[in-house]
Amino acid sequence: MKFFYRQMLAFFAVMLTLLVILAVSFTHSTTNMLYRQTWSQLTTDADSLVEDSIQYDISKSSFEGFAAQSLMSNANLLAKQHVHFAIYKPQKNKYYASSEFSPHIGKDDWRQLKAGKTIHRKIDYPKVNRQANGDIQSRVHRNLPMTEIIRPYFDNHRLIAVVAAGTFVSTINDSKRQMLINFMWSTGLAFLCAFFLGYLLSRQLTGRLTKMQKAARSIARGDYDVHVPVKTNDEIDDLGRDFNQMAASLKASQEEIQKQEERRERFMADAAHEMRTPLTTINGILEGLAYDAIPEEDKAHSIKLMQNDTARLIRLVNNTLDAEKIRTNQIVLNRKEFDATAELKNLREQLNKKAAAKDDKLQIDSPQMVVVYADYDRFVQVMFNIITNAIQFTEHGLITISASRLAHGAEFKVADTGIGMNQDQLHQIWDRFYKADRSRMNTQYGESGIGLSIVRQLVKLHGGKIDVQSRPGKGSTFTIFFPDRDYAPQGSAELSTSDQ
Ligand SMILES: Nc1ncnc2c1ncn2[C@@H]1O[C@H](COP(=O)(O)OP(=O)(O)OP(=O)(O)O)[C@@H](O)[C@H]1O
Ligand SMILES: [Mg+2]
Repeated sequence: MKFFYRQMLAFFAVMLTLLVILAVSFTHSTTNMLYRQTWSQLTTDADSLVEDSIQYDISKSSFEGFAAQSLMSNANLLAKQHVHFAIYKPQKNKYYASSEFSPHIGKDDWRQLKAGKTIHRKIDYPKVNRQANGDIQSRVHRNLPMTEIIRPYFDNHRLIAVVAAGTFVSTINDSKRQMLINFMWSTGLAFLCAFFLGYLLSRQLTGRLTKMQKAARSIARGDYDVHVPVKTNDEIDDLGRDFNQMAASLKASQEEIQKQEERRERFMADAAHEMRTPLTTINGILEGLAYDAIPEEDKAHSIKLMQNDTARLIRLVNNTLDAEKIRTNQIVLNRKEFDATAELKNLREQLNKKAAAKDDKLQIDSPQMVVVYADYDRFVQVMFNIITNAIQFTEHGLITISASRLAHGAEFKVADTGIGMNQDQLHQIWDRFYKADRSRMNTQYGESGIGLSIVRQLVKLHGGKIDVQSRPGKGSTFTIFFPDRDYAPQGSAELSTSDQ
């Protein structure tokens, strides 16, 4: 069943239940109230009847009887109000009755009356005089149900009379019916209003859900540019907000996937191109050697060329493998404390030749010993990458490598006076396969655009930080921080997907 109809049905069921409960309790309380009112009126009538008709012997100042004249006029008056009464003597015999009204008073009733209690009866079928006539009398005659009170009267604690006063239940029922009709009209009207209001609310609710449904379908079709309008703070709007957030993050990840895919494609093309150049060189030299076409004095140089090219190929393949290992969380860090200064000196020795080839000067600015807590091989890999980048993008310049101890770890800086980068490039250098200038391919020390992405992820795996500051034409400074044992993440470190 559609949500809208289900809503309406639920609403209808609630309203109906409410109406039935209200009608039942209203009828019950109205009936009780009407009876109470009637009994109170009958009591007042009986009291004034006794007051009007009672006669006293003044000399003895004691009860003597009831004045017949007064009883008759009261009987006529009360009969017009559909009230009938009967007076009984304490000896239980009837003294006077209007319209021969004669309620049943049993032994128990007499006991209660003598104890001073007024008896209230909801429905009684009093005995009547069959010969009585007249309209009111004929109703009594027809034995119609009556409600009555039977009330004792005392003089000096002596029971002098019992007065029974009754009226037709039909009078009460008439009032009850009238009140019920009024009640039904007003609740019916309220029910209609509520139903209309419920209809509007349900329509509004389903309208909002339909909007969300449409948006979900758009997303399913791959269109992430959807926005569900949200105005209030209720659960549906909360859901709408979550939905918008989900659409935004889906869009972002879709864009990221596309970006990654484009870079991967470009990388594959670049890598294939990169590999073909050294492979062609190696193949040419091998053919030359095979056909003895290379003069003896050039052979050593040719072998050197082959060595360089195979080294480039190995580096390219290693970088690709590393990137994949990091992506699949396969890197296991074997951390220990060691002297970083000594290792930086080693690196300078290794890279001095490359720096000299670019007319760069490599200098180390570090205390005698700087202890770092890291995986030795990965630390070397990180520093090697950053220093080769500095050499790669600096000509006739100075590259300063500094190391220092901070409160919770060791900090390293590699500053160059090379070409630098603008803000836009700075934001992207950590992305995989990013190269600020694609025409810089085929350079001697870097070509895939993978190096910094691997470096950043390795530093993050250590729980460290890497940062860069750069100005175009002025140079760049990379700052790397490795935390000490107590501040580094323990166990097998893992990268979140956003870091990969
Ligand atoms: N010291 C630097 N000065 C200027 N630009 C730099 C520097 N270091 C990195 N870059 C820029 O960041 C880009 C990404 O560097 P990254 O090391 O990731 O790749 P790469 O050096 O081009 O290739 P490889 O994967 O072989 O290292 C470089 O192509 C370069 O444009
Ligand atoms: Mg590099």
